[in-house]
Amino acid sequence: MAKIENAEAVVEEIRKVRQARYFEDQPVPDDVLHQLLEVARWSGSARNQQPWRFVVITDKAQLKAISEVRESINWVAAAPLAIALVFVTENATTGYDEGRVSERILTAASLLGLGGGTAWFLSDAEKSVGAEVIGVPDDMFCRSVVVLGYPTTLKDLREGANIPGRKSLDELVSYGKYGRSKA
Ligand SMILES: Cc1cc2nc3c(=O)[nH]c(=O)nc-3n(C[C@H](O)[C@H](O)[C@H](O)COP(=O)(O)O)c2cc1C
Repeated sequence: MAKIENAEAVVEEIRKVRQARYFEDQPVPDDVLHQLLEVARWSGSARNQQPWRFVVITDKAQLKAISEVRESINWVAAAPLAIALVFVTENATTGYDEGRVSERILTAASLLGLGGGTAWFLSDAEKSVGAEVIGVPDDMFCRSVVVLGYPTTLKDLREGANIPGRKSLDELVSYGKYGRSKA
């Protein structure tokens, strides 16, 4: 495996990947999009089934229509690009595969100077509206869209935004057995 010279800096950048919801009015170049799609394509999936298909969306009207599916994804309208994750099956590992490919796209995007986030269709009704906008065939499904662009901020400026930050490692990590602290 290639040893990256500045691995520590890259890892620190990965740690800092956050959900971006506000974007410059600037398109994502095709070569950057291609790189992101290659990263997505090479994501690992359970039994290497590669259950995903990627729908690239840059049409403003379509992005707006997606943004109207749910109040908490209204920021999608101002993004230049979305990649809808369409799945050919739903089984026990689909959610994991979906999270994995999403995070890889978002991490690669961040390392390339972009930002982005997940927009989620929650209920069955929302999924069908999303499916209509994206043209998802009846035997497939889409419940999330990876939204990308050049971010103006990584803050969540919405009223009632989630509490920012993360739990401490002390709260999250045990050693050997659950609840055991480091000797
Ligand atoms: C499965 C999943 C669904 C999400 N759905 C939405 C969403 O619909 N709308 C939204 O604004 N953010 C959504 N997010 C982003 C989370 O709110 C965000 O990751 C979390 O608040 C942490 O934000 P930060 O990484 O910027 O600190 C989703 C994240 C995940 C993992």
